[in-house]
Amino acid sequence: MKSTNNLVEKLETILATLPEERRHLILFLHRVQQEIGYVPEEALSRAADYFSVSPAEVYGLVTFYSAFRLKPGCRHQVTVCQGTACHVRGAPELTAEFSRLLGVRPGQDDPERDVALRTVNCLGCCALAPVVVVDGEYQGQVQTDRVPEIVKKLIGNK
Ligand code: FES
Repeated sequence: MKSTNNLVEKLETILATLPEERRHLILFLHRVQQEIGYVPEEALSRAADYFSVSPAEVYGLVTFYSAFRLKPGCRHQVTVCQGTACHVRGAPELTAEFSRLLGVRPGQDDPERDVALRTVNCLGCCALAPVVVVDGEYQGQVQTDRVPEIVKKLIGNK
């Protein structure tokens, strides 16, 4: 019961601290994932209520963008876009380099390093290709020579 109350409080704090001009459903969900590590069921219903949309719409949004997680998982997650624009600008090499340096295959988790590597087919910002999402933060035009720095910042020298 106490943890449910804490969660409700946390969601209210996130809503209250979103700047007025950034009070959009997707930004709220991003903040929830950044702060809680995933998007819990309570956040879906609170979002539907607050933004006056149906719970099905919120669920549809969260499941459409694979950068969102509905269950707790590894603390860190790298998602590399594999859509056409990203593919032709080096996504396969980028994915291979992340996989090599993180020591985890695409689609897998490494509980020891607390990191997961994911792939997705288009994140909706193709002009920035190739795109990578690192712990919820979108990074555009990422080339393989930037991967070591990103990995080091993410998990240190684990
Ligand atoms: S193809 Fe990668 S963002 Fe669209």
